[in-house]
Amino acid sequence: MRFRWKLLGSVLCLTGLLLLLHRHLGNAQLQPPPGSTSGRGRTPIATPGYFRAAEDPMSRRDVPGGKKKPHLAKVRAPEQKPKPPMPEEWMHLAVVACGDRVEETVTMLKSAVLFSFKKIKFHIFAEDSLKPDFEIKLEKWPQQISRKVEYKIYPITFPVGNPQEWKKLFKPCAAQRLFLPMLLQDVDSLLYVDTDVLFLRPLDHIWAFLRRFNDTQLAAMAPEHEISKIGWYSRFARHPFYGTTGVNSGVMLMNLTRIRNQQFKNNMIPAGLTWEEMLHPLYQKYKNYITWGDQDLLNIIFYFNPEMLYVFPCHWNYRPDHCMYGSNCKAAEEEGVSILHGNRGVYHDEKQPAFKAFYEVIRDYPFDDNLFQSMYFPLQSKFLESVHTLCGRIPQVFLKQIEKTMKMMYERRVVMHIRSHA
Ligand SMILES: *[C@@H]1O[C@H](CO)[C@@H](O)[C@H](O)[C@H]1NC(C)=O
Ligand SMILES: *[C@@H]1O[C@H](CO)[C@@H](O)[C@H](O)[C@H]1NC(C)=O
Repeated sequence: MRFRWKLLGSVLCLTGLLLLLHRHLGNAQLQPPPGSTSGRGRTPIATPGYFRAAEDPMSRRDVPGGKKKPHLAKVRAPEQKPKPPMPEEWMHLAVVACGDRVEETVTMLKSAVLFSFKKIKFHIFAEDSLKPDFEIKLEKWPQQISRKVEYKIYPITFPVGNPQEWKKLFKPCAAQRLFLPMLLQDVDSLLYVDTDVLFLRPLDHIWAFLRRFNDTQLAAMAPEHEISKIGWYSRFARHPFYGTTGVNSGVMLMNLTRIRNQQFKNNMIPAGLTWEEMLHPLYQKYKNYITWGDQDLLNIIFYFNPEMLYVFPCHWNYRPDHCMYGSNCKAAEEEGVSILHGNRGVYHDEKQPAFKAFYEVIRDYPFDDNLFQSMYFPLQSKFLESVHTLCGRIPQVFLKQIEKTMKMMYERRVVMHIRSHA
């Protein structure tokens, strides 16, 4: 969505008026943002900058290394002319689902589409037996949601090596993601996520990292751990891995065009190999040393090719590891959790109720257009039930981004409401 500044200006004034009116009349349909966890009484709606922040890919703090560039604010001064509208760009989201994962996957997809601006193509790789269930669930989505997405369901296939062997690696069919560059020849770039991921802000925001890649980068992931002393790879791995703690492949941006065209350094052939040529020999070489399957292979690949990886901060892949021994993801303490990754099965047991609360409210959200009433308030009360856990004791970390998202969605609705009545 792009607005001309003039229109935006008048819309914002109107919004302010509407809010005032609302306070007097208590309009139940256009529900205002509730008291925030961070600074009650702020009215972000009154500042044009809020809109820019919402549509702006990322705040400066997301730059790896946390370097702040104070002059950046000047470049983005309000008087700057907005760019002309670009031809519509689709975002691509890929997931691999096997076994008992349909509901979890559909909940992830729902979180992706609910908050996003640009349209999304879902590439769902699933066992044949799950396909009808996916179709039934996705066809039930209301039209105002489903018009923002297209989806395709693919069978699980392994184009190189022995399919049975790949299937056994780690979890059934997790290794599928390694083959996405070959299987999706028509796709330039995509975001791969595990089924147990939930988006708490627009997908557009992580998608924007693709444009930040320098000339050698072709994929982006978050570190596996923040502290090498307690990290798994740093203590136990018997194979090379990226950086000091390794990377987690549950949220992975890939420029597939670059991956398909690149020669990768390795310790098997001095000349380098393409991605496709490299996977099977690499697996053969390390199969007796790897524990976490394809994630280990990715760590080995980027150990030999570190200049190809963009590392994004931990709030884009926030896992129980970041809070169950005490809070150790500094970026999430500042920004809030942007993408929640409930690994270790925490959406389905009682071990981490803070994570489960998010899963349940997003799964149960009835698409009734009333995000505060039907998602945010239930989330807040469910979250309270997790205070006996270390993760539950940091609501400001868990709720900060999603609250921002809720406000942004509300403002978008107000604007559309005004436009349709103009
Ligand atoms: C991916 O890389 C190719 C080749 O460098 C480039 O043309 C394309 O724009 C990149 N895609 C994105 C989304 O940045
Ligand atoms: C891209 O960034 C990575 C990580 O900072 C670095 O190792 C690499 O040399 C950079 N590539 C270029 C072409 O600047």
